[in-house]
Amino acid sequence: MPPAKDNFPTALPFLPSKLNIRNLQAAARQCKGCDLWERATQTVFGEGASRARVMLVGEQPGDKEDIAGHPFVGPAGKILDEALAAAGIERGDVYVTNAVKHFSWTPAERGKRRIHKKPRYSEIRACRPWLEAEIAVTRPHVIVCLGATAAQALLGSDFSVMRRRGQFIPSSLAPRVMATVHPSSILRALDEPSRHEQKEAFIRDLAIVAHEMRRVPHAA
Ligand code: URA
Repeated sequence: MPPAKDNFPTALPFLPSKLNIRNLQAAARQCKGCDLWERATQTVFGEGASRARVMLVGEQPGDKEDIAGHPFVGPAGKILDEALAAAGIERGDVYVTNAVKHFSWTPAERGKRRIHKKPRYSEIRACRPWLEAEIAVTRPHVIVCLGATAAQALLGSDFSVMRRRGQFIPSSLAPRVMATVHPSSILRALDEPSRHEQKEAFIRDLAIVAHEMRRVPHAA
């Protein structure tokens, strides 16, 4: 992703001078680096082990996460938790975050529901300093991009999750970087057999990560 030019939206001025997770979480609450903060309830920053061996990067908080203030606590988070457990990855080893830290949504045509709206390229780019700072602080051994938005934010705009899921991709971001599907894509499966199949494939990708984690010692 090319660096932001001066007049592009960016979170950069909101970053704290001393980088650690607590400072980042506190500073991100004030972020107005792009316009998404105006319609969101709050910033949803990453959470988890501060020296995580694995960082999971989603797209953006959903409706439930926006209200709770924590990443992956809604239906996609439930699938993610189940898949991590099935793959043998402990939550204590994981730092979970999103490419974009505010909920982007549009009102439903009828009713009060807030419908997830894919973040714009400019919003993903504006938010990238937070993600880079999280990577710098947690120094994960493995980064897992969940879905196309995270993969394209970290691996380039032409990256295809469908073609390269489950493979370690050479990257300067971490010793191992992989992309797989977003857990919400499993929720959208057309019927129960395909949902089951897609979830098993997701677990297989995470099992590759679990295998890699067994090869490396715990962070100090
Ligand atoms: N989807 C995401 O990408 N992130 C969340 O935190 C929740 C749903």
